Amino acid sequence: LENRWYNCFKGEINNMRVLLAGGAGYIGSHTAVSLIEAGHEVVIVDNYDNSCAEAIARVEALTNTQIPHYEVDVKDKAALDAVFKKEPVDCVIHFAGLKAVGESVEKPVAYYRNNIDTTLTLLEVMKENHVNQIVFSSSATVYGAENASPLYETMKKGTCTNPYGWTKWMMEQILSDAAYADKDLSVILLRYFNPIGAHPSGTIGEDPQGIPNNLMPYVSQTAIGKRECLTVFGGDYDTPDGTCLRDYIHVCDLAEGHVKAVEYAQTRKGVDIINLGTGTPYSVLDIVHAFEKANNLKLNYKIGPRREGDLAVCFSNADKAKEVLGWQAKRNLEDMCRDSWNWQKQNPNGYKK
Ligand code: NAD
Ligand code: WQD
Repeated sequence: LENRWYNCFKGEINNMRVLLAGGAGYIGSHTAVSLIEAGHEVVIVDNYDNSCAEAIARVEALTNTQIPHYEVDVKDKAALDAVFKKEPVDCVIHFAGLKAVGESVEKPVAYYRNNIDTTLTLLEVMKENHVNQIVFSSSATVYGAENASPLYETMKKGTCTNPYGWTKWMMEQILSDAAYADKDLSVILLRYFNPIGAHPSGTIGEDPQGIPNNLMPYVSQTAIGKRECLTVFGGDYDTPDGTCLRDYIHVCDLAEGHVKAVEYAQTRKGVDIINLGTGTPYSVLDIVHAFEKANNLKLNYKIGPRREGDLAVCFSNADKAKEVLGWQAKRNLEDMCRDSWNWQKQNPNGYKK
């Protein structure tokens, strides 16, 4: 494996073998497709806490490949170690985590236990198996309320408003400390903004359980009649139309950003923080109207009260990703809305038949 890594480094081979922890989920499944399309191999580990094996079967069908995959809890060190022994990899992408902001307020201990423990276990098992590269799913939430948009990677991290956000904040710290101590380690902290959309085939997409917390699944479930009416959370913010501004990014662009990140991870050591966003803010009403226009339908919505914890404005400066990774988002809001709806229409009940 060490030889293989060295050859990678010299540019003599450029296909990597990447372990996706939490790879059956929304972002992981799209990243699997992009990695395979770029000539890399993937191995997936997931406990299906918020996903199912059907997503992997769909990725296999889309890419015409077989993907080694294991139903393993990343916190289970012995089971994870067995996967590393059986499936040597060059790099890990760590998607495995609980991510519902509201639920994290109700169940903080479960969030800290799962998110922190998966990270520690991965780091231990990586070290024992001489895997030195990790790309981590962080979040714009670590900028907190103190920093004004556009958000730059050089800004000091802020104060999070919920346990979910704090887990991301802490995991960034843990990974940075690990890289400081172990000079062989290559850590890329990717701070995602608001991923939406789906693969244009409509065969993989976001499949939230129960009532969606996030905007786009709520919009598409309203359009299909599963929800009666979208409530726009707050119409009196200090923004051009009174609704919150966010940096929505097509999940396929985000996935391609991961391909660039794993390739970049081979060429350097230490920690890099990189925003994955478009740099362009849109309001909630922009999303509603773009969804109506792209899909030629009418959406039932009303303006309601603000949601606790929401920031008025949150968007990235996306220059570093362009400079360092040679990556920038290519897909526009219309693509995001069309592809979200295409997935919803083809899979009214998500992956459940
Ligand atoms: P997701 O829930 O669809 O995917 C996460 C996957 O991790 C799921 O398949 C889940 O079953 C798995 N998982 C959770 N705990 C596990 C464990 N202990 N062992 C094995 N597998 C486990 O979420 P997603 O939207 O694909 O997000 C992926 C990552 O990106 C998460 O870490 C999330 O916090 C982060 N993130 C997501 C967003 C977003 O808006 N979707 C934004 C910023 C950051
Ligand atoms: C977007 C906008 C809502 C639902 C969250 C996490 C963040 C990151 C991404 C993981 C906001 C409004 C929403 C609805 C609405 N996740 N909205 N009606 O809150 O920007 O970010 O997901 O790291 O950490 O906090 O995303 O999709 O929930 O909301 O009006 O029914 O849509 O107020 O302005 P958010 P979201």
